[in-house]
Amino acid sequence: MDQALCRSVLITGANRGIGLGLVEGFLAASPCPEVVIATCRCPESAQELQKLCKQYSNIRVLPLDVVSESSIKETVKKVEDIVGEKGLNCLINNAGINVLGSLEDVTTEAMLRTFETNTVAQLMLSKAFLPLLKKAAKQSATMGCHRAAIVNMSSISASIGLAKSNDIYHTIYPYRISKAALNMLTKCLATDLKLEGILCIALHPGWIQTDMGGTKAPLKVQDAVPSIISLLAQLSEKDNGAFLDWEGKTLPW
Ligand SMILES: NC(=O)c1ccc[n+]([C@@H]2O[C@H](COP(=O)([O-])OP(=O)(O)OC[C@H]3O[C@@H](n4cnc5c(N)ncnc54)[C@H](OP(=O)(O)O)[C@@H]3O)[C@@H](O)[C@H]2O)c1
Repeated sequence: MDQALCRSVLITGANRGIGLGLVEGFLAASPCPEVVIATCRCPESAQELQKLCKQYSNIRVLPLDVVSESSIKETVKKVEDIVGEKGLNCLINNAGINVLGSLEDVTTEAMLRTFETNTVAQLMLSKAFLPLLKKAAKQSATMGCHRAAIVNMSSISASIGLAKSNDIYHTIYPYRISKAALNMLTKCLATDLKLEGILCIALHPGWIQTDMGGTKAPLKVQDAVPSIISLLAQLSEKDNGAFLDWEGKTLPW
């Protein structure tokens, strides 16, 4: 990478798993963003992030519970102070949950909780950060993460086109339905924000060994992150509104 992928990036759910891996990947990139904003519910207990703060001067750790409107509001204010008139280049909506539920045992509570965290929060975050993304978009011409982008962490399990009766996802009704709705949100945002120069994609990061991905996953965070970051660096206008996997392949909706 000759040019930094973006000047500023914000990642939600950055205290563990893929979010933490992305923070580490951005900080290690050369050249790296001017500021990497890692958000999580509880910065005081986010030991890995605290370690990174001692190692790098361009990381900021902010508290953010993605399902709390007041927390989102507070975070936007703090991010505004950090990025100033340059705005925010890249919002990575990574935080997510997987509440198990098959057809037999799924509950209303599981559905609503998952929908709130995996879909509604991404809409509210995109809406709240829009003024800062617009500011950033005004400072460049071509679309991409270097300008202004929203990256929604989706999942291949949410592909309606790939769903079949014997697939492995029959125990995760809430998760796959919430991510399918997130895909629609992505498409809505991509359409609405195109004229503003803000790119939006849904990304399947790969099946990765994390608390959510489990130990049987074929990929480790450190294997997938360089591919994800290189994919983000290459995004352009043609990718706006796409559903991509970590290797850049287009997935069926
Ligand atoms: N791992 C995979 O194989 C895989 C595959 C496809 C898609 N994905 C997607 O990739 C993203 C990251 O997954 P992961 O595997 O890294 O999951 P993970 O290890 O379970 O981590 C989830 C992260 O989301 C955070 N989070 C959950 N609810 C939150 C809330 N209300 N506010 C703020 N943060 C919240 C968690 O914070 P706490 O520590 O505070 O709980 C944690 O940092 C998710 O959107 C997931 O759906 C993962």
